[in-house]
Amino acid sequence: RKRVVSGVQPTGSIHLGNYLGAIKNWVALQDTYETLFFIVDLHAITLPYDTQELRKATRDTAALYLACGVDISKASVFVQSHVLAHVELMWLLSSSTPIGWLQKMTQFKEKSRKEGGENASVSLLTYPVLMASDILLYQSDFVPVGEDQKQHLELARDLAQRVNNLYGGRKWKKLGGRGGSIFKIPEPLIPQVGARVMSLTDGLSKLSCKGFTLLRLASLNVVPIAIMSKSAPSDQSRINLLDSKDLIAGKIKRCKTDSLAGLEFDNAERPECNNLLSVYQIVSGKTKEEVMEECKDMSWGTFKPLLADAVIEHLSPIQLRYQEITAESEYLDKVLSEGADRATEIAEVTVHNLKQAMGFCPRN
Ligand code: TYM
Repeated sequence: RKRVVSGVQPTGSIHLGNYLGAIKNWVALQDTYETLFFIVDLHAITLPYDTQELRKATRDTAALYLACGVDISKASVFVQSHVLAHVELMWLLSSSTPIGWLQKMTQFKEKSRKEGGENASVSLLTYPVLMASDILLYQSDFVPVGEDQKQHLELARDLAQRVNNLYGGRKWKKLGGRGGSIFKIPEPLIPQVGARVMSLTDGLSKLSCKGFTLLRLASLNVVPIAIMSKSAPSDQSRINLLDSKDLIAGKIKRCKTDSLAGLEFDNAERPECNNLLSVYQIVSGKTKEEVMEECKDMSWGTFKPLLADAVIEHLSPIQLRYQEITAESEYLDKVLSEGADRATEIAEVTVHNLKQAMGFCPRN
């Protein structure tokens, strides 16, 4: 069976972007593929973080996976730091990763700038190598993520190719290996709708002071609007999966819109409109055509309560399951422990193969 892996960082609270861009799609894949979903705690320490929060956030994230419908009779769920091979493979891959590949990553540039450039941690730079390890360790075929992770996926693919060329094939065979490729080349799975859920409040602010970026994006026909993010300072900019009904209704009521009458998809001048209609489309389970027909003559005043109700109705059962799961902590411990065992089995084979191909002396 083809294999699918993905993960979310246990930082801040999981929001509608994480859910619509990633987790919801994982659930759809678990029937068809062998799936492994992890909580990437090692990635969460690349920026300054609260040691008192990490453990709880890690468990809460795992509980939310299950609440969203990840089914442990089909998928393995585990904590990244419980499977040591992630870190081991990362070191091995680091030696084949040109620094230049990492320095040009958009997320590194943005996040390191916020950390004051030179003060950013080394791990922020090498973050994509750890992410490549997460994926390549399991010989993954597909990686369901939101659009913001596409560049990291491309790096993982390039790195896999590079290591296959450097150490695979005949050279590996001479060292006693099976020859051929060491890593499978993974494909990103980015959903058609929901891959880029936008901030509810930010509008164009994120890029307004950087003429150069704005220009470049404009020429690529990309609408410069901030995506919904855990790290945005205002909680009003995102809908968290565990927000109360009132909070959700309030955030949607106050969210940024425009002053045009009637609602429409795909108008580049109306990014907020496209975003909110897309969210409505997914949470209501309707088709794009149905939403278009239903909303084409609506005012924002009519649409906003409709959207709020649809989001609340979609999230209510998830919130209920979350309460049940977190009420029973031993259950989660068991899930994570079994998940880590399964993952370790697969991961050890890959690390063994790569170490053999790289010429390490085996322990006898
Ligand atoms: P993270 O924790 O930032 O986000 C988790 C997932 O949510 C998606 N996402 C969004 N999708 C649509 N709209 C948004 N506004 C939005 N915001 C976030 C992300 O694309 C992601 O799929 N580096 C990764 C975690 C990671 C990983 C991996 C993923 C580590 N190793 C291996 C896949 C495979 C990250 O920080 O995601």
